[in-house]
Amino acid sequence: MGAITSLECSVCRKPHPPGTILNLCECGGPLLVRYDLPSLAQSWNRAARRDAPSTMWRYAPVLPVSDPAHIVSLGEGWTPLLQAHRLGRDLGFSSLWIKDEGLNPTASFKARGMACAVSMCVELGISKLAVPSAGNASGALAAYAARAGLEAHVFMPRDVPAANYIECRAFGAHVTLVDGLISDCARMVNERKDKEGWFDLSTLKEPYRIEGKKTMGYEVAEQFGWELPDAILYPAGGGVGLIGMWKAFEEMQQLGWIGAKRPKMIAVQTTGCAPVVQAFENGDVETRFWQGAHTVASGLRVPRPLGDRLMLQAIRDSSGTAIAVTDQALMDSTVQLAAAEGVFAAPEGGACIAALRILRARGILKPEDRVVVFNTGSGLKYLDAFSRRFPRTAASEQDKLGGLITPR
Ligand SMILES: Cc1ncc(COP(=O)(O)O)c(C=O)c1O
Ligand SMILES: [Zn+2]
Repeated sequence: MGAITSLECSVCRKPHPPGTILNLCECGGPLLVRYDLPSLAQSWNRAARRDAPSTMWRYAPVLPVSDPAHIVSLGEGWTPLLQAHRLGRDLGFSSLWIKDEGLNPTASFKARGMACAVSMCVELGISKLAVPSAGNASGALAAYAARAGLEAHVFMPRDVPAANYIECRAFGAHVTLVDGLISDCARMVNERKDKEGWFDLSTLKEPYRIEGKKTMGYEVAEQFGWELPDAILYPAGGGVGLIGMWKAFEEMQQLGWIGAKRPKMIAVQTTGCAPVVQAFENGDVETRFWQGAHTVASGLRVPRPLGDRLMLQAIRDSSGTAIAVTDQALMDSTVQLAAAEGVFAAPEGGACIAALRILRARGILKPEDRVVVFNTGSGLKYLDAFSRRFPRTAASEQDKLGGLITPR
């Protein structure tokens, strides 16, 4: 299992000892898990992967859990990478692929990060967990905490999709609905955590969720026979998946599994909340707080991501870009993807399909590029949004189910 050498600050580079309960570095920088990759390269090779489990734990040597008995799993990861022939043809791409993260436990990629972080809580003896969330991270934490028998406290905007609220209640979490955004939720967790004895699992405020999410990068490489695609489109809120995949590519190169080629990392946001796009276009190294954030793609409603510097760095180092699409375009694209490929995506995934159109028109992506779109969740978690698009109206009194069992 994981050969951690240190928890390294991503800002001041200070190494912190593994096996200790830590959130941020003293300088405020997020901590990143570092492994003894040269030693691992001697004992662990790509070919050994064939007998590995069909979950993200197939990459256990580069995950932080040191004792397999501490792993809390619901079968997360190793999701399908589907070629989208018909949609690709419609959009002008000959090699378009969808990584369908909607098939994870709790129907979003947030499962990966929380499986890893909750496992580490078990390993470190932490029993009270708290998270501010745009919705899906709460659902995932609630599920893994239930699986581990730990206490979960989740804070999310009052207007999250109904599925997020209901799943958290069903999993037995302590739910606080907040009249505000994820940034307001984060402030509430921060104010109460010391008094309540909670461990703060906010995005990048602890080192382990990113480790779970980085496995998306390992999987894309393995599923393509250890050759990375030309571009990856990722719907960015906090941006942890993008930062995590970038870290995974670096690790794989150090393990000797891949070469120096990297995909263009493309962050997709919405015009109602686009702090990363704004910073990228202005040539800034960090974001400014986005006022009045609103979008149907609720996971992208993050006005100021803590990992903005790391995200912008990865986008620039990869010669990628950041792009915003409208809610109308992303909902249209979600439906187009569903009808063309049988994948009912979350609006966040649909945003990436909408972005493809623009990137193709601007010549940033070429028709022959191998392009991977991350669908980060299932459309089934957003029935409130989709039911506005597909309203049901009774054609006649007979169509009403109630008519069968109640007097007309
Ligand atoms: C479905 C979905 N996609 C994308 C995101 C954004 O993820 P990240 O914060 O890692 O950028 C979220 C976050 O809540 C989400 O729920
Ligand atoms: Zn530091």
